[in-house]
Amino acid sequence: MLLWGVYKVEDLYLGWIEQLDRGLSNWGKVAVPGDYRSIVVSGMGGSGIVGDYVAVLSSVSPRGLPVIVSKSHLVPEFIGSRDLVFVISYSGNTLETRMACMRARERGARLVIVSSDGYLEKFAVENNIPFIGVVKGIAPRTALPEMLYGVLGVLDSSGIGIVSREEAAGARDFLKDVLKEAVGEAYSIAEFIAEHDGLLILASHTPYESLVLRGKNEFNENSKIPVKVEVAPEWMHNDIVGWERPFPGNKYSVVAIVDPGDKPGSKLVDFMTGIYEKNNIPVYRFLLRGDSVLEKLLYGSLVLGLASVKLARMRGLDPLETMSIADYKSRVRDIFGA
Ligand code: PA5
Repeated sequence: MLLWGVYKVEDLYLGWIEQLDRGLSNWGKVAVPGDYRSIVVSGMGGSGIVGDYVAVLSSVSPRGLPVIVSKSHLVPEFIGSRDLVFVISYSGNTLETRMACMRARERGARLVIVSSDGYLEKFAVENNIPFIGVVKGIAPRTALPEMLYGVLGVLDSSGIGIVSREEAAGARDFLKDVLKEAVGEAYSIAEFIAEHDGLLILASHTPYESLVLRGKNEFNENSKIPVKVEVAPEWMHNDIVGWERPFPGNKYSVVAIVDPGDKPGSKLVDFMTGIYEKNNIPVYRFLLRGDSVLEKLLYGSLVLGLASVKLARMRGLDPLETMSIADYKSRVRDIFGA
């Protein structure tokens, strides 16, 4: 069996505490106070997921604002000077994000750029745009904590305290305390998925849509497998019917992500599990830990990230290599005529 810590990518996940520390020490260094109508977060893949996390954190906070997550070269037509737009690209070079940045600027929105390097860093510096620089030289998706705390810190210092510095520091301490258990849980999940193979389904309940999406992306990119996402209670209004007559012979396995402190959430997943089991689909129940939604998101992201890396190792694959994304990026200019 391979040991954690031997490979750099595992260290990138286990190094999340240092990322959170950097996020906390930069908290408040950039502020863009204003009377905003909405927050827009623009970015793709491992950078774009930050927007999903900001959206859920804003939705569970009485101090929240509407958050629009934009994973596109486009931005919503209606944005303007009363909207605060975070442009996030770890590399700073993703074409869709660069195009969205220019479009948001043309519409007069207030911009903040988050990046480690590249075109967007240069663009921010040359145009005096508030800039959050994050650690350089790692895989974009592994920089989630620092990018997330970068955005939450700017929001808090700008009077939109959906997460306070104190809550962010508490979540950092919590994650440090549960690091070992997170590794153990990740191992078990990876082993479950490898044993059952077939199409992996990540199932959960609201408000954890963003976490299952993150998990999907992690298993896509690190483990190189397709993944299906199913979220209750919306699941009860469409997916459930699909499970009445799935094509015979297809294989599936389910990792059900549950917040044990959320009674309706747990019962919704029990209901889903009943239907999966009727279809002879094995289910692994992954219980989130933590007191706040932020803590649960960080814990869940770490476990799913480590599990996806472990699964890649079990399959003899390099978790860091994302050949198809590189191929797409080499041809993206033709697609957009840029
Ligand atoms: O995690 C990854 O490597 C990808 O999902 C990237 O985040 C995605 O391709 C966008 O690149 P970037 O984050 O550099 O803008």
